[in-house]
Amino acid sequence: MKIFHFSDIHAGSKKHFRQENLLHIIDEINNGGYDLAIFTGDATNEGQRDEYELAREMLDKIEVPLISIPGNHDARSGGIKLFEEYIGPQNGVKVFGDAVVIYVNSAIGDSNDGRVGRVKFNMLKKALNDHSDKPIKIVAIHHHILPIPMSGRERNVLANAGDLLDLIQRADVDLVVSGHRHYPNVYKVENTVFINAGTASSAKTRYGDVNSYCTIEIDDKENKVTTKRLNGQNTTRNFKRKSKRIFTEFGDREFRAVQLSNTYFSESSSFLSNHFDQALKSLKTLDPDLLIHCGGIVKEGTPRDYDFAIKQLNKLDLPMIFTPAARDINYIGYHLFNQSFGELDQSFKTDKFLFQGLSTPQYDSSIGVVGESERKVLLELLKDSPQDFRTVFLHHNIIPIPHSREKGLLEDAGDLLRELVDADINLVLTGTSYHPYATRVGETVIVNVNSLSSAYQRSRFGNSFNMIDIYEKAIVVSEVNALWGEHRFLGIWERNER
Ligand SMILES: [Fe+2]
Ligand SMILES: [Fe+2]
Repeated sequence: MKIFHFSDIHAGSKKHFRQENLLHIIDEINNGGYDLAIFTGDATNEGQRDEYELAREMLDKIEVPLISIPGNHDARSGGIKLFEEYIGPQNGVKVFGDAVVIYVNSAIGDSNDGRVGRVKFNMLKKALNDHSDKPIKIVAIHHHILPIPMSGRERNVLANAGDLLDLIQRADVDLVVSGHRHYPNVYKVENTVFINAGTASSAKTRYGDVNSYCTIEIDDKENKVTTKRLNGQNTTRNFKRKSKRIFTEFGDREFRAVQLSNTYFSESSSFLSNHFDQALKSLKTLDPDLLIHCGGIVKEGTPRDYDFAIKQLNKLDLPMIFTPAARDINYIGYHLFNQSFGELDQSFKTDKFLFQGLSTPQYDSSIGVVGESERKVLLELLKDSPQDFRTVFLHHNIIPIPHSREKGLLEDAGDLLRELVDADINLVLTGTSYHPYATRVGETVIVNVNSLSSAYQRSRFGNSFNMIDIYEKAIVVSEVNALWGEHRFLGIWERNER
């Protein structure tokens, strides 16, 4: 099956619409032997009637079956009504031979943000269930689900991106096609390939890039994804279809790390002392080589909370490293963190293992940032490190977390995620959003941890920490309930070679 994916044409924009580029792309669609074309939104710039007329005129030139969804620009000025009049339904399910394409509108009127509301979410869920036997499952949505590099401040992703990511993984979706950020990008998350086409014909490209689109060739064994730029530069990546996830030969266990966050030490009722004390008992039995605290150590950065934290942590006789959350550096916490725990970017090293901390909170702000200069320093450090197994730990999440509104995301999550995945970092640990989650992007396993002893958490399994066992050939991540010590798997992955 051959699919043509393009996005963000922004027809009618006086300043930014490059009609000649769109006509060139339509020519490619009509002459490339494609079975299907998918357009992922922003047909117009302002949702106006004359723009829709032009968009219709353009899309009418396409001679292969076409699926179109609206983008945020199409929902401007109430334009979503006109989308239905000129382009087609906002949501739907279409079957093409072996493939099913489920498409949903994620635009909110007069907003750049995205959301897939309950009715549409359930429609997506039902459609994936109804078509679970289809060999090729494709989801089309305008807003990107994973953060995109080169996109500046990553602030307007989908509100419920984490739930969508989780659903897509569970339903074994093959492809997710999106637009919105005018920058092409491809990620593989477990067995799903997430594709961003860039913009087909808007002058508003990023970082001096040119217009682009994407072609996808699917056979029994592979998804071959090619990003094509209009300057002739093509990048092809082949992804194995449905690679096996579970295997049996782990080899010896080489390291056991325990990841925790949001202990919320304080004399207030939001610190659950019983949970902390019970978790200590489990930790003593599990005997980890290292504890990694991903932030939210104290409830507030006051001397009183820090004093209390030190007393509690003295009950533990295990090596431990920390990275701060915003609450840890509030008030006078910035100094107290230094005084009590040491530097902001802490690390733990053995011959084979590196655990490198990356401080992300900003003073008096809930927004996380690494920053371009800091990322450069980190990448140099990771490149020069001799260890086989490299882990980066930070407080803010770099992929969306289920059951939480996407607000914990790092401002430069798109860049950091791309850089860590491209550097084949084995493991990334985060500790925000109060819900556990683990998945693999490219070769990098990304694990978020729930709160250990804060009254604020979102998991039905209850407060917990994560146990990460690193074997010669596998990484096994389990969640351990703080009160009762029950375990459940978050995932098993084959360990990648450096
Ligand atoms: Fe756009
Ligand atoms: Fe958009």
